[in-house]
Amino acid sequence: RTDAAADHYALTQRATTVEILPGVQTEIWGYDGRFPGPTIVSRRGRRTVVRHRNELPVPAVVHLHGGHTPPEHDGYPIDLILPVGMSAGPGRGGAVLAEGERAYDYPLDQRAATLWYHDHRMDFTAPSVWRGLAGFHLVTDEEEDALPLPRGERDLPLMITDRSFAADGTLHYPSLDPTLTGRPGVREPYAGGVLGDVILVNGVPWPLAEVRAARYRLRLLNASNARRYRLALDPPPPGGGGLVQIGTDAGLLAAPVRHDAVELAPAQRYDVIVDFGRYRPGTEVTLVDEFGADSTASVLRFRVGECLADDTAIPERLSEIVPLNPADAVVTRTLRFQSTRLHGMSGWTVNGRPFHPDEVHAEPRLGNVEIWRLISDFHHPVHLHLSPFQVLSRGTGGPGPYDHGWKDTVDVRPGEEVAIIVRFERYAGRYVFHCHNLEHEDMMMMANFVAV
Ligand code: C2O
Ligand code: CU
Ligand code: CU
Repeated sequence: RTDAAADHYALTQRATTVEILPGVQTEIWGYDGRFPGPTIVSRRGRRTVVRHRNELPVPAVVHLHGGHTPPEHDGYPIDLILPVGMSAGPGRGGAVLAEGERAYDYPLDQRAATLWYHDHRMDFTAPSVWRGLAGFHLVTDEEEDALPLPRGERDLPLMITDRSFAADGTLHYPSLDPTLTGRPGVREPYAGGVLGDVILVNGVPWPLAEVRAARYRLRLLNASNARRYRLALDPPPPGGGGLVQIGTDAGLLAAPVRHDAVELAPAQRYDVIVDFGRYRPGTEVTLVDEFGADSTASVLRFRVGECLADDTAIPERLSEIVPLNPADAVVTRTLRFQSTRLHGMSGWTVNGRPFHPDEVHAEPRLGNVEIWRLISDFHHPVHLHLSPFQVLSRGTGGPGPYDHGWKDTVDVRPGEEVAIIVRFERYAGRYVFHCHNLEHEDMMMMANFVAV
């Protein structure tokens, strides 16, 4: 529904049974009973109100990942939508409780970009997203419309996830095993996060897409809990450079970057153009994961059909990105993403502290530029809410090949230090930053900043 003030959407979160593996019924939790949830498209600067009704058996929280959103609509991990029929009672510990439904109000005054929405409940984000609570939310704008990029049927949002299935078809999430839950330390075997052995693209295992011999825009989203991918085309087009990156988490790059492969950590988005016109019609091209093996080595197949008069192009100038200047930074903070012994078991922490809603790690001033040094003992895809950032350095070098543009999630590798530069803008209030390996997030690798 649309009125003068805003576009309105209503989504119901519910359990439903769908066929994912051929001939097998699988229960999922979905937005409107779908996995992925419905794709919402918003125009830059156009308020979008999404009302969520919770018909799941558990509380829900919705976060618009990549949205520049006021704190009360950002999906803080204890701002819960209780299941329909459950009454709130007295609120505890600063929790905000909505009974059955609530609306999230998004200003979306931000560049065109591939955003996504997903569950964000404290301690339970990983199993809820695993069951299907994720969807795309795209923002479009005039700047992007003016470029001759592929659009319509040749603009494909691709949500890549890995899942495991039990013999009876249920989604198998190891730490939900009833013989294991509730015992301290049982999650330790999953310290690296939960991986599945079936790769799904938009909820479909290893799909085959029919494409014309023309340019396509692939909006690659790694919505997996913990799996990292290195995606490449097999066979590569003659001459290589088949994945031409035009955008990332927070929108268009300044200029295209040609890759043979792109690495995606959880939550990251890479917007690439693939020109299937570089292949002979009839060729089958596989998007492979070079980090995968056996059942996880292949992600998606394309069958290249007839040529198309292709009036699209990839301009050498895409957008203007003004680099933030380290000399403008008024604060430098050091954040260590590390495993720490807590009460006799190991947990994932930020600076040795497990997540607590009342504990504040940083109080950035709105308008200020800060440098955050992110130091990691493992692979930790670090995500900041509210404000996008730029990567200044990685280890002793400059930004890596996948660090271009405005990011909201950066892949920090084992033993590495990544410096990011960020200007905190717009909304005062409490937000989180965290590792987007969802098992790490649930195991407390999350912290608050309060923008003031
Ligand atoms: Cu995509 Cu705080 O999350
Ligand atoms: Cu986010
Ligand atoms: Cu992590």
